[in-house]
Amino acid sequence: MLKDKVILLTGASSGIGMVTAKLLAEQGATLILADYNESAGQALSDELVSNNKSSIFMKVDVSKSSEVESLVQLIEQQYGRLDCAINNAGIAHDLLPLAAIDEETFDRVINVNLKGTWLCMKYEIDLMSRTGGGHIINMSSVAGLKSSALFSAYGASKHGVLGLTKSAAVEYAKQNIRVNALCPSPIRTPMFENIKKESEAIANKVAESNPMNRLGEPEEIANTLAWLCSDGSSFITGTALPVDGGYCA
Ligand SMILES: NC(=O)c1ccc[n+]([C@@H]2O[C@H](COP(=O)([O-])OP(=O)(O)OC[C@H]3O[C@@H](n4cnc5c(N)ncnc54)[C@H](O)[C@@H]3O)[C@@H](O)[C@H]2O)c1
Repeated sequence: MLKDKVILLTGASSGIGMVTAKLLAEQGATLILADYNESAGQALSDELVSNNKSSIFMKVDVSKSSEVESLVQLIEQQYGRLDCAINNAGIAHDLLPLAAIDEETFDRVINVNLKGTWLCMKYEIDLMSRTGGGHIINMSSVAGLKSSALFSAYGASKHGVLGLTKSAAVEYAKQNIRVNALCPSPIRTPMFENIKKESEAIANKVAESNPMNRLGEPEEIANTLAWLCSDGSSFITGTALPVDGGYCA
């Protein structure tokens, strides 16, 4: 489905990103993996290459402008274009009511999840607009669509990602650049396992509050991302797509 598509995936070293990288490679994509966890990202890329897939890894902190700019420069030099960019890198924070969250935590969550997504979009759009277009897929969350008690900084960052997604989709549609966002409900990844360590009761409640009575699996997000990266999604832009077992309904 993705033969010869040049795809950038941030947050590739763990969870949703790692599972997605393997699926996209399986479907023939040419991958550029980015993450600030260098050892896991490089190991993943090496594994893909040893299985005859096309992959390179670059250590990038998405909240740092110069690092994101260098990443997109590398893609332009090496491939001359970027068909899809999946801006997936993100962090969570401890479960706390709003007034108990410290300023440093708030700044870090906004810097990585919101500013990091904006920085990636800024440089990706610059390249795409000079090379015929492309498709950007931002990782939001159901926390970008609905309240998320004890998760207000995270929720604010993910609501913000949807704002960036919708504005850019309208601004760049005529330049053949599509921009969409994915809104998963809780998914079984290391990020969710950390929440579970904090409060098993809340984690269980989250799974039980889903109409399907379970967490999502990273493979279910990866499958959706692979389809979005394919030409099958060609008339979709500006959307915030829940992948949530019916939770938002
Ligand atoms: N797991 C869930 O329940 C869930 C639900 C909805 C949305 N999401 C979103 O999906 C995305 C992936 O989450 P996950 O569950 O796979 O988490 P994860 O913690 O397993 O993976 C996140 C990856 O992002 C990387 N990362 C974090 N900050 C970075 C930075 N500044 N620069 C570069 N890389 C950075 C980490 O090193 C890690 O490899 C996140 O944006 C998350 O908010 C997750």
